[in-house]
Amino acid sequence: MTEHESVPLSEVDLSDLDRFRDDLAWGQFDTLRREDPVHWSEEPAGRGFWSVTRYDDIWAVDKDTEVFTSEEFVNLEDVDPEFMDLRRSMLETDGPRHQAMRALIAREFSPRNLMKNYEGFLRELTRQTVDEALQHDEFDFVEKVSGDFPIQVLARLLDVPKEDTGQLIAWGDEMVGNTDPDYTKFPFDSPESEKYKHLPFRSPTTQEVFDYGRALRDGRKGGDGTDLVSVLANKVPMDGVPLSDTDFDNYFLLLVIAGNETTRQAISNTMLGLMRQRDQLRAMQEDPSLITTGLEELLRWASPVYHFRRTATREVELGGKTIAEGDKVVMWFASGNRDDSHFEDPYRIDVRRTNVDHLTFGKGSPHLCLGNALARMEVRLMFEELLPRLADIELAGDVARVRSNFVNGIKTFPVAVKPR
Ligand code: HEM
Repeated sequence: MTEHESVPLSEVDLSDLDRFRDDLAWGQFDTLRREDPVHWSEEPAGRGFWSVTRYDDIWAVDKDTEVFTSEEFVNLEDVDPEFMDLRRSMLETDGPRHQAMRALIAREFSPRNLMKNYEGFLRELTRQTVDEALQHDEFDFVEKVSGDFPIQVLARLLDVPKEDTGQLIAWGDEMVGNTDPDYTKFPFDSPESEKYKHLPFRSPTTQEVFDYGRALRDGRKGGDGTDLVSVLANKVPMDGVPLSDTDFDNYFLLLVIAGNETTRQAISNTMLGLMRQRDQLRAMQEDPSLITTGLEELLRWASPVYHFRRTATREVELGGKTIAEGDKVVMWFASGNRDDSHFEDPYRIDVRRTNVDHLTFGKGSPHLCLGNALARMEVRLMFEELLPRLADIELAGDVARVRSNFVNGIKTFPVAVKPR
């Protein structure tokens, strides 16, 4: 089953963000996987990039950090070398320093710790979100269900005051939506954003997030709190090199944004997919155990992150092409999740599919999503709480998508519901 138009190879342009807003990415990915799976593109405002679109090639790139480094940044933007260290987080760090930074909070994100410390809180938060949404017959699914929920979870992990949560949401939207004029005053591809190229996401908002994070940190230094800010304020990474102020700023920022938009879109994309493939919605309503066993299929299908990028550290062959040292290599995870040599009938949601070894969180990489167990828990709890409460759910207007080739996202999603 496919729901999209095919695109001739000569017309493929994965840097055209309007096409992503118009949901035209999939036809391009299909063409590339079939006809040119390691594909070179020129960029209007960059140095060009390779697109890797087949499952096995993406996996090969993701696991080989020696040949494909993250140190030269991981999205399409060509970051000015003089600003790299200022903007670097663990996401753009490889080797022992990456391991040491990641280990600082890795235990907090383990499935065991999450189940022990957060599952009860999360289920309650999910229930409240669903209860509140279902007071209305018609509402925007993003606004009432998927939008604020993930950041409220992060607010709890970071232990930020409840009244600041709205501010965190607005900051997160503005930065990750930095190519969408509805989210930011300075879209990344606008001339104005040049002024902010020393800041992550080229966004002046990041300075506000840094100031906010530092104030929290300074108040928790020397304390015995167990929240993530306290850990970052008081623990020295295992390589013995303390976090500098810049390290802390970028770490805090990464935590605020990494699990916000992504988890929101996992929930929104899944709901929309299930409304379009209703047999699967009904199957999970009739047998809620399918929400647990089908979770990986939902995450494969949702693919909230289109891509991450690497840079070749030496000349290398991939898919019959010669990649030169210094070339940008983009792993289109979303495309790998639709590779029919790996997933039969990949555009079909099949919650009974087994061994769904998707690329949604990366694969084989030391950078594999740190929050994957948390994201899994959030998505599972949301559908466990929501689906049994729905007698019916229909689209009540047009779906608007985020203008981004990084986040596969929905901005507005009007629905009409009949609760059970
Ligand atoms: C469905 C939701 C999510 C998706 C699809 C997602 C996806 C990803 C992907 C694709 C990567 C990079 C993997 C790679 O380079 O191979 C990543 C890294 C990361 N994610 Fe997530 N993520 C999600 C939720 C979260 C949550 C809830 C958090 C918690 C704060 C989080 C924190 C991180 C961090 C800190 C990294 C960097 C890890 C490192 O560099 O070692 N993510 N995520």
